[in-house]
Amino acid sequence: MLVLGLETSCDETGVALYDSERGLLADALFSQIDLHRAYGGVVPELASRDHVKRMLPLIRQVLAEAGCVPTEIDGIAYTAGPGLVGALLVGASCAQALAFAWGIPALGVHHMEGHLLAPMLESQPPQFPFVALLVSGGHTQLIRVDGIGQYELLGETLDDAAGEAFDKTAKMMGLNYPGGPEISRLATQGVDGRFVFPRPMCDRPGLDFSFSGLKTFALNTWQQCVSVGDDSEQARCDISLAFQQAVVETLTIKCKRALKQAGLKRLVIAGGVSANKALRTSLEKMLGDMKGDVYYARPEFCTDNGAMIAFAGCQRLQAGQHESLAISVQARWPMEQLAPL
Ligand SMILES: Nc1ncnc2c1ncn2[C@@H]1O[C@H](COP(=O)(O)OP(=O)(O)OP(=O)(O)O)[C@@H](O)[C@H]1O
Ligand SMILES: [Mg+2]
Repeated sequence: MLVLGLETSCDETGVALYDSERGLLADALFSQIDLHRAYGGVVPELASRDHVKRMLPLIRQVLAEAGCVPTEIDGIAYTAGPGLVGALLVGASCAQALAFAWGIPALGVHHMEGHLLAPMLESQPPQFPFVALLVSGGHTQLIRVDGIGQYELLGETLDDAAGEAFDKTAKMMGLNYPGGPEISRLATQGVDGRFVFPRPMCDRPGLDFSFSGLKTFALNTWQQCVSVGDDSEQARCDISLAFQQAVVETLTIKCKRALKQAGLKRLVIAGGVSANKALRTSLEKMLGDMKGDVYYARPEFCTDNGAMIAFAGCQRLQAGQHESLAISVQARWPMEQLAPL
């Protein structure tokens, strides 16, 4: 089955063609980062308008790269939520219009299910069951996964997502958006031990997270540096390292706890923050020590992309799921509401 996937939940227009027999045939992405950089975050109306501009050229590009024509496509998957409503509506309307014109089914895919399944696009995909850590710009969740659509939420952030904390910490030090890659780059030049940040909620039982305090801690530390005249690049590097160490260690402690609680030794990490090298190294060590395995997607499939939507959609379309021509999206959408396959 050949599926066209469209991703427009936030500030990336992603398009891909995935074939159930031949794998990923082509994918293309247009990132709006430059458009939103001046504002230090995503401006929803600008995002929607840009998706409108990029969508059809990207679909043509992907078809050309894959050497396919529209009549070969069996179904269209699009991100139906969660995300920015205006941005989601662009992908949904485009998918439904093309599906109607081509006489094929369309299916709305859950963006976080897309992230969660992205590591399955790699050469050694994880087997069910596993524990998944979803760490992105809008989510930090630990989920027990027994199959596609069989999701049990084990814990989540009570305030900011980990990626959001990276972005806000970077912004307060005058770094570029998005902050995660900037902080991880500066952290490599940081002096270990100059600052020590707290490990929030690790000293009490449970699998929930809280990252807003870390962001405040970073702000106070930065302001103290500035007040003594040290607004240097080195101060930014040292804060970046201390902040990243705190996030990575906190996530590692909670992943270990979740694996123990679930009685599993397979961990999948997905979402933008799963591209972080220090996090991957720390989780690999932890899983190595317990003789388990950790799985993640290639860096470009950790952040938003069309390939993960085409893949997730293909699994569900193959199982016979599709929907009416109604154009409907959801800004908020708990993943536990999804139907099992
Ligand atoms: N190397 C990295 N280290 C840490 N964080 C990173 C890295 N690369 C990207 N990020 C962070 O990942 C986030 C973007 O990821 P993603 O595209 O999955 O999130 P989103 O789509 O905005 O949110 P959601 O998927 O929850 O709706 C940003 O917060 C960004 O700072
Ligand atoms: Mg995302």
